[in-house]
Amino acid sequence: MCSVVGYVGSRSSKDLILESLSRLEYRGYDSAGFACIENCSINCCKSIGKLENLVNKLQGKFEDVNISIGHTRWSTHGLSTEENAHPQLDCKKEIAIVHNGIIENFYQIKEMLIKNGHFFCSKTDTEVVAHLLEDYISSCSDLKEALIQTLRKIEGAYALVMLKNDFDGLIVAKHSSPLCIGIADNEHFVASDPLAFAGKCKEVIFLPDSSFAFVTKDKIEIFDLEGNKLELEKKVLNLNWSSLSKLNYESFMLKEIYEQKNSISRSISYYKSLGDNFLNSLSLNKQDLKNIQNMVFIACGTSWHAGRIARFFFEDICDLPVAVPLASEFRYSRFFPDHDSLYVAISQSGETADTIEALKMVKSFDLKTLVLTNVDNSTLVRESGGSLLMQAGPEVAVASTKAFSCQIASLFWLANRFALERNQITEKEMQKAEEDLSIAVVVMEELLDNYKVQIETGLALKYAIFHRFIFLGRHISYPFSLEAALKLKEISYLFVHAYPAGELKHGPIALIDIHTPVFIFSHMDPMIYKKLVSNAQEVKARGGRIVAFAFEGQDELLALSEDYFIIPKVNPLLGPLAMTSLVQFFVYHMAKILGRSIDKPRNLAKSVTVE
Ligand code: G6P
Repeated sequence: MCSVVGYVGSRSSKDLILESLSRLEYRGYDSAGFACIENCSINCCKSIGKLENLVNKLQGKFEDVNISIGHTRWSTHGLSTEENAHPQLDCKKEIAIVHNGIIENFYQIKEMLIKNGHFFCSKTDTEVVAHLLEDYISSCSDLKEALIQTLRKIEGAYALVMLKNDFDGLIVAKHSSPLCIGIADNEHFVASDPLAFAGKCKEVIFLPDSSFAFVTKDKIEIFDLEGNKLELEKKVLNLNWSSLSKLNYESFMLKEIYEQKNSISRSISYYKSLGDNFLNSLSLNKQDLKNIQNMVFIACGTSWHAGRIARFFFEDICDLPVAVPLASEFRYSRFFPDHDSLYVAISQSGETADTIEALKMVKSFDLKTLVLTNVDNSTLVRESGGSLLMQAGPEVAVASTKAFSCQIASLFWLANRFALERNQITEKEMQKAEEDLSIAVVVMEELLDNYKVQIETGLALKYAIFHRFIFLGRHISYPFSLEAALKLKEISYLFVHAYPAGELKHGPIALIDIHTPVFIFSHMDPMIYKKLVSNAQEVKARGGRIVAFAFEGQDELLALSEDYFIIPKVNPLLGPLAMTSLVQFFVYHMAKILGRSIDKPRNLAKSVTVE
């Protein structure tokens, strides 16, 4: 997703901007750009493709400038071309703007501006902001008034960082897209994500929605759209960039696959360390928990799969019905506000636009909300009633791994903790649940060791040559099959159709042939397992080749399979967790054999901050 960055201070700003952009590369992009102020004029440089193309173009230029902005673009309006890359300029080339978000009414504004004589160079929605500001500057008393008029006119989401040729600083504005200001001695950084300046700033300000700020090297002034000055809410920034290196791993994704056990242990220990404060941090009390009649998990992508798996935890352990709508669908479906429900947003980044907007909608009805996320200070944490903060550590690879397993583990623990508070389980049963979780996590890691060589030296190569796959699961292993399929699609670009095994006979069975491997994710429950075996028989009878992820003792399924992995027995609800690393490792190696860009797959963004 687009990233915006800016710097104002006494140091040479070009390298700082390029470093910030490289730190945010993980968010996904297809072009990059830079602008600075030199002798009261704006200079701009853009390139398509990787950031190193921009670095090469900037070689030997702008070494002594102290005010600059930068951008990596993930195309929404217009192809990935230099014209459409940011910064975007006004007609007089006195304003340069980088933007993350979407200006929804850009078309109407553009038509109006063209009639007023403005000339547009790009197909982007962003360019209208530069021209609109230019227009208002000519009719307003000062820059502040012109900004207020501009921001009141535009609709949609924006994190804007702007340069004006005669202003010695950065002008920033925010609505719905993340934007923060890093504070250091006599210098300020601006970015979509504080990772951009981690280690350089001790304090950070997260801009509120519908606000703008003037940032010079020694001053920050924030205003609302009425022009009122806002308090500076500074927070300590405890973020370390060095912890984000790949260490000896060939990729971030592989490192993150191996970090899962520690991420989960750290998170569960953290929840337990909150002691009596635990419920406070969720903004709930014992009575609230007893009053809950339903739960609704709202999420996107991998987090949605975690929610669908966790549905079974809360239904089985807390006896609560759970709905798991996709955030992007939830917002545009009819909503029946229910004061007996707890609405839980699940998001690794805490910045996913669809999830944020869904949560805002729920909150507008004064309903109970909670967010499960991995990023403190993220928008969802600020928007939600309460929050449960995972301690998985920053996840850099676009395809989510450790955040997914940590979500499942956290939600399993939470379901048990809720049941304890609701007097549905005893302390002893809570302890047993924690032991079950530890066992599943140990199994998850051991499976990596057990199958590492087999996957690396044979299985990945054998299966990477196929063009399409069917993944099947039942009950809790069905949403897991959706996640396994998403992982393979994301990083290998191979086609996978994940389906509930029981539905196979109602259509997808027509796709079964020798060229379409069928991965079956088994279940510990004997009844569900029996049904899965019947489905495997149906596949086998039609000449399909089966790869099974089966539990110890599930010999019938193994006998029907061409290849299989045997998973030690765990609590049936934790079957998916136990398989997680193994499946991620397998699809990782398939993608590696295909030579894919695993940490930054094509077209994808880590943090999807537009709807
Ligand atoms: C993007 C990422 C996915 C992620 C989804 C939801 O699509 O590429 O890996 O699952 O966003 O992100 P969230 O941060 O809300 O969990």
